[in-house]
Amino acid sequence: MENHRTAQISGTGSYLPANLLTNKDLESLVETSDQWIRERTGIVERHIAAPQEATSDLAFQAARQALDAAQLSAQDLDGILVATVTPDQVMPNTACFLQSRLGCKSIMALDVSAACSGFLYALTIADQFICSGKFKHILVIGAETLSRIINPTDRQTCILFGDGAGAVVLSANTNNPSSKSAILSSSLGANGSLGDLLSLPGGGSRLPFNQDVLDQKLYFVHMKGREIFKSAVRTMSDRALECLNQAQYPLDKVDWFIMHQANLRIIEAVADHLNIPKQKILTNIDQTGNTSSASIPILFNQSIDKNLVQRGQTILMAAFGAGLTSGGILLQY
Ligand SMILES: CC(C)(COP(=O)(O)OP(=O)(O)OC[C@H]1O[C@@H](n2cnc3c(N)ncnc32)[C@H](O)[C@@H]1OP(=O)(O)O)[C@@H](O)C(=O)NCCC(=O)NCCS
Repeated sequence: MENHRTAQISGTGSYLPANLLTNKDLESLVETSDQWIRERTGIVERHIAAPQEATSDLAFQAARQALDAAQLSAQDLDGILVATVTPDQVMPNTACFLQSRLGCKSIMALDVSAACSGFLYALTIADQFICSGKFKHILVIGAETLSRIINPTDRQTCILFGDGAGAVVLSANTNNPSSKSAILSSSLGANGSLGDLLSLPGGGSRLPFNQDVLDQKLYFVHMKGREIFKSAVRTMSDRALECLNQAQYPLDKVDWFIMHQANLRIIEAVADHLNIPKQKILTNIDQTGNTSSASIPILFNQSIDKNLVQRGQTILMAAFGAGLTSGGILLQY
């Protein structure tokens, strides 16, 4: 029966721009130190898009890999969802640029804006389209060029963020109905009353671009880091527990935990809070920094490439971000 359809990850891909910005490089740009950044965040280096690279260019590379891994052509896709807060342009959306560049048919092409939780929001939306029977294959991407919206002279934010893209193809299990691979549960949330903690105030309909926006640098990300930290630990823990609860799945049976790579100390605090064994936690923040919506799909793809994550294993993903949004997904790969 159509409404018993499940969706599985049929392929993954990721892309990190070649240009590296190390903690040492940052020492000459703002008042900071390699030691401070390592100790407070776990970050050592981050990748920065070349001037000619836009978000859809990063997304394209990740998408091609994911399609190849899924053994599908762009023509097989029924939809593209791009989670991003750094679209190529306000319009057309980034998914449309990608739809054209990949050579897809006329399909659904939509951007999802939920900041660092965006990929888990998009994957949940894609899962609904597939489980309802409407679509068979959806390309789900998290892609960001955060370096374009970070103030290079603000030491609170410029040390944290990097650029990159991660992609998955989510496919209906119709060809293989006995497959256990599926999205097992998902939990999404938001607390808009804390929106001021992380925002980019300028350039929207409330504060259109004008001289004031330029003078006050309101086209850059503004962040209250310490306050976000506490909320991040609480909401990621809540989303993870909700996923386990919904699926009636015990935490000790989860093979791998992939949390949004924002700060190693946040990840460790969630692990302590939930009693997650350290060896089950996957991280790459030392090499990527915080790539917002791209962080989870990049780490997922890298962990598959390294043969850490294998078919049949269960992965619990959790994220938080501006909004403040939060999300969790429990899946069997
Ligand atoms: C931003 C963050 C790394 C700061 O770490 P922290 O341990 O909270 O540090 P604090 O803000 O309390 O600052 C501690 C001191 O370091 C200083 N400091 C801040 N940034 C610094 C930097 N880059 N280099 C050196 N010193 C720095 C502060 O000025 C402060 O100095 P003081 O004690 O003399 O006042 C941390 O709060 C964080 O990661 N928060 C979450 C942010 C996040 O994830 N945002 C994205 C959400 S998706």
